[in-house]
Amino acid sequence: MMYQVAQKRRNFTNWQGISLTKQNNFDTKLGNPGERVHCVCMIKKAVYPGSFDPITNGHVDIIRRGLEIFDEILVAVLENPKKESLFSTKERVAMIQDIFADEENVEAKSFHGLLVDFANAHDSKMIIRGLRAISDFEYEFQMALMNRKLDPEIETLFMMPSLNYSFLSSRLVKEVSMLGGCLEGLVPEEVEDKLRDKYKTTPKTNLK
Ligand code: PNS
Repeated sequence: MMYQVAQKRRNFTNWQGISLTKQNNFDTKLGNPGERVHCVCMIKKAVYPGSFDPITNGHVDIIRRGLEIFDEILVAVLENPKKESLFSTKERVAMIQDIFADEENVEAKSFHGLLVDFANAHDSKMIIRGLRAISDFEYEFQMALMNRKLDPEIETLFMMPSLNYSFLSSRLVKEVSMLGGCLEGLVPEEVEDKLRDKYKTTPKTNLK
């Protein structure tokens, strides 16, 4: 039984590209009954891509959950001149860097071109995507399989945000902000301030 687990983990580490030393440590450590082994499965870096126009508390929640699994999260902000965005790529990256200024294992960078190329260029074989509802699924499924087709070594991991954020999207946040609605609990303070600046609206509190 112990051997089967070891075998399974070894396969897992292989496709994640974890170092041989770690695998060896794992194999020898596993001999001790009841030993905690989850740390051996830590994967160095995951890429969390998106438009982040702007980052919401739902995204922040996914990043924090991701940090429970990965050593580092690299937030990859799409630079897409064809897609009209409220915030420039620079502004979107800067907001994420601000929010995670105290977390050295979260980094934000912009990217263009293929996501798999960006992941490879940053030594990551793992993509994280947040999945809120069934409506997200089809698009996410297509993207994950396309990325796998482009690079079979790259895996996509879907993570569910807290139920509190399952209705939340950057698009709705912008709409609420533009119409002067309350953004409490929807976006980090840094983002709320920036949205107010863009739309020249004054902060409101919830009516109820
Ligand atoms: O937050 P979004 O807008 O849903 O994020 C979409 C994103 C950035 C993940 C996606 O558009 C993307 O990966 N673009 C890079 C181009 C690419 O690699 N395309 C082929 C795989 S679908």
